[in-house]
Amino acid sequence: MYKIVKKEVLNDLVELMEIHAPFVARKCEPGQFVIIRVDEDGERVPLTIADYDREKETVTIIYQVVGYSTKLLSQKQEGDSIQDFVGPLGVPAVLDKKEKKVIGVAGGVGAAPLYPQLRKLAEQGTKVEVIIGGKSAPYVLLADRFAEFCDNVYIATDDGSMGTKGFVTNVLQEILDKDRDAYEECIAIGPLIMMKNVVKVTKPFDLHTMVSLNPIMIDGTGMCGGCRVTVGGKTRFACVDGPDFDGFEVDFDECMTRQGYFREEEHQCRIGLGKEA
Ligand code: FES
Repeated sequence: MYKIVKKEVLNDLVELMEIHAPFVARKCEPGQFVIIRVDEDGERVPLTIADYDREKETVTIIYQVVGYSTKLLSQKQEGDSIQDFVGPLGVPAVLDKKEKKVIGVAGGVGAAPLYPQLRKLAEQGTKVEVIIGGKSAPYVLLADRFAEFCDNVYIATDDGSMGTKGFVTNVLQEILDKDRDAYEECIAIGPLIMMKNVVKVTKPFDLHTMVSLNPIMIDGTGMCGGCRVTVGGKTRFACVDGPDFDGFEVDFDECMTRQGYFREEEHQCRIGLGKEA
């Protein structure tokens, strides 16, 4: 069993948990994920690693309550335990680009997996900036934590309640129009439509862009086929070959079609558990 040592409600849909998981905390790297099972009857849920502390032997996960299992997880409190916490899984992000400037773009809970990637780059001497987006101020995640190591933290909200009114892509376009040569890489993590639109902005500038396809994973085992995606004309599995891929090569339209398959079932589960999102 894995003890929940800290729980924080970040907004009405998103929560953070710090889990005591010594083996995962020792081995994990930014870009990787874990599979959790809340109890012995629970389904396997892949969740990206938002942070880790090798000394405290803890791993932080940030999750959105989108279906039955994350709703069950959200009913757990500090001091409770969860059944399984397996990992680290997936291919670590390639972050050995010293003395370059990287701009990160995060939408919603995408801020969680982006955070350890940008922090590691900053620790290696890379200059990093970030654009964080959300529908309104409460949905802009981790801005204070990014500010600890980012040269600039730009914020965009749909309703203008924090930062620029508009999308992260509007802010990104403006930044690149001003000084594209200041950046050598973009890392975008968020909803598929956001990552697709980020690539639309960066491609004309030929700014190499990595995206994370963790939103399309279902069981994270390489067996269900739910995360199958075409990258550069080849079939890939996000949970085995990724979750990070070259954004210029991803077939986003195919991903979005597949992600929609279970939307109605998740909606029904939320209603059944009394949490309508
Ligand atoms: S999530 Fe099932 S095969 Fe990747």
